[in-house]
Amino acid sequence: MKKILVIDFGSQYTQLIARRLRELCVYSEVCPWDELPKLDEVEGFILSGGPESSNIEGNPTIHEDIFSTKKPILGICYGMQVLSFQEGGKVINEGKKEFGHAELNVMSESNIFENIVTTIDVWMSHGDKVDSLPQGYEITASSSNSPIAAFQNQEKKYYGLQFHPEVTHTKYGIEIIKNFVDICGVEQNWNASDILKQIEELVSNEVKEDNVLLALSGGVDSTVLAAVLYKIIGDKLTCVMVDHGLLRKNEAKNVVQNLKEKIGLTVNLVNAEDTFLTKLSGVTEPETKRKIIGNTFIEVFENESKKLESINWLAQGTIYPDVIESAGNSKTKAKVIKSHHNVGGLPERMDLKLLEPFRMLFKDEVRKIGKAIGLPHEIVERHPFPGPGLGIRIIGEVNHERLERLREADHIFLSELKKQDLYYSASQAFAFYLPIKSVGVVGDNRVYADVIGLRSVNTTDFMTAKATALPHEFVEHVSTRIVNEIDGISRVVYDITSKPPATIEWE
Ligand code: XMP
Repeated sequence: MKKILVIDFGSQYTQLIARRLRELCVYSEVCPWDELPKLDEVEGFILSGGPESSNIEGNPTIHEDIFSTKKPILGICYGMQVLSFQEGGKVINEGKKEFGHAELNVMSESNIFENIVTTIDVWMSHGDKVDSLPQGYEITASSSNSPIAAFQNQEKKYYGLQFHPEVTHTKYGIEIIKNFVDICGVEQNWNASDILKQIEELVSNEVKEDNVLLALSGGVDSTVLAAVLYKIIGDKLTCVMVDHGLLRKNEAKNVVQNLKEKIGLTVNLVNAEDTFLTKLSGVTEPETKRKIIGNTFIEVFENESKKLESINWLAQGTIYPDVIESAGNSKTKAKVIKSHHNVGGLPERMDLKLLEPFRMLFKDEVRKIGKAIGLPHEIVERHPFPGPGLGIRIIGEVNHERLERLREADHIFLSELKKQDLYYSASQAFAFYLPIKSVGVVGDNRVYADVIGLRSVNTTDFMTAKATALPHEFVEHVSTRIVNEIDGISRVVYDITSKPPATIEWE
């Protein structure tokens, strides 16, 4: 399969490059800068940004094999600097960082800026910059802070961009990447059935007649994976769902019922709420909560699976953003923001081989697969829900009382969104719990109780997001219902912060 290879130098945005290529229906893979796969079918390379400085010895470099292919190269940010450095240019650090919007002026004809206006609003995020060009290169664009904001060597088809075309803040970013695709001459014909075919091949070749165990969370990824695997290996698949007591209202019951009715798959449901709540008692720090939830999950799941016979594989619905956001790609140095985990550690402990067919996919691709195999809309289009569940939506200590209140508030919010036809126009909506006392009046009485927050965001990739502009009357109606129907809540607030600087979840 002809592809464009994305070389990962550790940028938070690496996955977005691959994502943009896949949006253009171009098959792409990502690999760490020092672990190249076979390059025979690679038609072009995109070098990601990264946290390093290209001047310091020992820092990541472009492998000579890449140059030897004589295929086009597009270097982005660090990728541009390291390309410049290795081609004989000079990169400097003036101690100044450029972060955020900048106006880019396209200065000369370049295939990379073809059919694009000459002044572009772009997104910068860098400390170093190219100070003098390598031989054979010319400047193609500049900004007020970066005289060499883009360069090219037309003959070699090597291009550099100091800004990030892969983030949505850069206007015409996708067009720039499309221009690079045209330069590489790759066809735009990669789709969901190709992905599914590849997964079927992988599973059939790897798993053969073995038995597979799947930890089902009820979210889109693990549910679609369960359906895909059931289709390929049938009864060789066993699904276990651990209800950690941090799920939304009626969630476990609905998931089990849905899979049975819609796909014919039986799920073993384990109720472990007490075990989880006991371990979480008194714990307030978010990352500690995540670790406890993850480890307890492993214990419960392990105990449960001991009851099963001759299992060889553990299947997980890990998707690409999980891999990157946890810096699971150990060769790179993407900074860990939150330690997302998908039952990490289980396969080694249980001596199981790990099957992660969605590891290179984005959520919308998983959804496309779900649709392609006929899963119903309400399963495929559900909002994502974090593995640690309501455990990270209650700020501070998690206990039964807070969980019950939050579950109820979340249910009111989501069911109202569905009723008013707003649910599917948001990417992720939920309630969270703030254990802050605030004064209210109910009837003639003073109440001094906790706060519920509502958050709804719109995003395509969950890396950046904007708060949904929900109608004021709607939010007011939800707020009134929550305060009236749930004891112990005196106030409701709506979070309008974007990501960045905030994250989507509060913890
Ligand atoms: P943040 O809060 O990082 O969220 O902006 C981005 C997306 O990731 C989800 N999220 C998690 N998912 N385990 C998960 O499986 C986690 O620990 C976790 N933390 C955040 C979040 O719901 C959003 O969709």
